[in-house]
Amino acid sequence: MRIVALTGAGISAESGIPTFRGENGLWKKYRPEELATPEAFFKNPETVWEWYFWRRRIIAKAEPNPAHMALKKLEDNLGNDFWIITQNVDGLHQKAGCKNVVELHGNIWFDRCTSCSYIWEDREIEFKGVPKCPKCSSTARPDVVWFGEAVRNIDRAYELASNADIMLVIGTSAQVYPAALLPIVTKENGGKIIEINLERTQLSYVADEVHLGKAGEILPKIVEKILSERKRIL
Ligand code: OAD
Ligand code: ZN
Repeated sequence: MRIVALTGAGISAESGIPTFRGENGLWKKYRPEELATPEAFFKNPETVWEWYFWRRRIIAKAEPNPAHMALKKLEDNLGNDFWIITQNVDGLHQKAGCKNVVELHGNIWFDRCTSCSYIWEDREIEFKGVPKCPKCSSTARPDVVWFGEAVRNIDRAYELASNADIMLVIGTSAQVYPAALLPIVTKENGGKIIEINLERTQLSYVADEVHLGKAGEILPKIVEKILSERKRIL
């Protein structure tokens, strides 16, 4: 049995990291076009970097919650038949111990040179001016995907989605493409969609199961159920 989990900001909400949309969502306080676009960055790199350092400080303190740990348990049991495709940049799946993680939107703990494209890990959490490339001293940017930029690893994500028997869709508003299409790819290839979210989304109409509530409470139960059914089949 092959399982893929597509995760969004909602899976990290119970770790204290604000989501983008919904109540208390980051996009209510900030306009995406002012912060998460290449144009915004080249106009005002200081402001964009300050926002990313603010997010880094929140993320640095955050620990994986029971939802992340439930996915770790799936990986422990299924090995390479289990993969996480995440839109999150917080690295909490890796902090929970997961290895099979495909990041679509990059990672907030990496910087990239705007001139020579060199990428390096940067654990700094205080804003001390715009970071510079250690190789060529040019302006660095967060190594994350902004609006209008291509997502990463999409071929691998489509491959995983099309081969999955079950796609768990956890804490994503399913409004950002192409991530939101991945569950449809699973479904079109004969797999099942299980959605876990506080509220219904546009995916709920095509999902085989919709579980409304907190991922940290619901996901551990779903994982137990999947693992015990799997044992019965084996
Ligand atoms: P959103 O903020 O759009 O959606 C978060 C979803 O999580 C919402 O549907 C909530 O209902 C749900 N949610 C919140 N708390 C939850 C909890 N405890 N348990 C379960 N569900 C919960 O986040 P994403 O869908 O990840 O991209 O957003 C996708 C992309 O849009 C982000 O990666 C980011 C953003 O713009 C870029 O910056 C490129
Ligand atoms: Zn450089």
